[in-house]
Amino acid sequence: MKDPARIEELVLAARQARSRAYAPYSHYRVGAAILTKGGRVFAGCNVENASYGACLCAERNAIGQMVAAGESSPVACVVVTKGPRGGSPCGICRQVLSEFARDMTVVLVGDGDTGQEEGRRQTTLAELLPDAFEGSSLPE
Ligand code: THU
Repeated sequence: MKDPARIEELVLAARQARSRAYAPYSHYRVGAAILTKGGRVFAGCNVENASYGACLCAERNAIGQMVAAGESSPVACVVVTKGPRGGSPCGICRQVLSEFARDMTVVLVGDGDTGQEEGRRQTTLAELLPDAFEGSSLPE
C-alpha cells in the first residue's frame, strides 16, 4: 500500500498518538498508526511501567486497537519517533505485525523536538522480518 495521501494520514495519526505516549522512564516517545485493507486507521503509543518488563510498544498497542475493533488485515504501518531516521520496530513488534500481514508497507518517520519531520524511510515487513515464524510452522 503506497497511496501517498493515506500514508500522510497515518503519519498524522501516529504523530498524535506519539504526543500521548507514556514514557517517563526512557523518555523515548513512539506513535504508530495502522491502515487496514478496508481503509480504517488505528493508532497506539508506547505505555511504560515502573516494572520495566511491563512496558508496551506503540506498534503492539495499535495492533490491539485494530483487533479489538474486529479488524485483522493491516496494509500499512507508520511509526513516528525522534531523530533523523526514525526508529525501527523492535523484534517483538515485527513478529506481532507479521501475524497479520507479511507484505505490509512500513514507514519510519523521525521527528524533531518541535514535531517537524526530519526524515523517513519506507520498507516492508517482509524486509524487516524475513523467514518469519508463523502459525503454519506449528505442527498439527
Ligand atoms: N518502543 C516502541 O514503542 N516500539 C518499538 O518498536 C521499540 C521500542 C518503546 C518501548 C519503550 O517504551 C521505549 O520505546 C524504549 O524502549
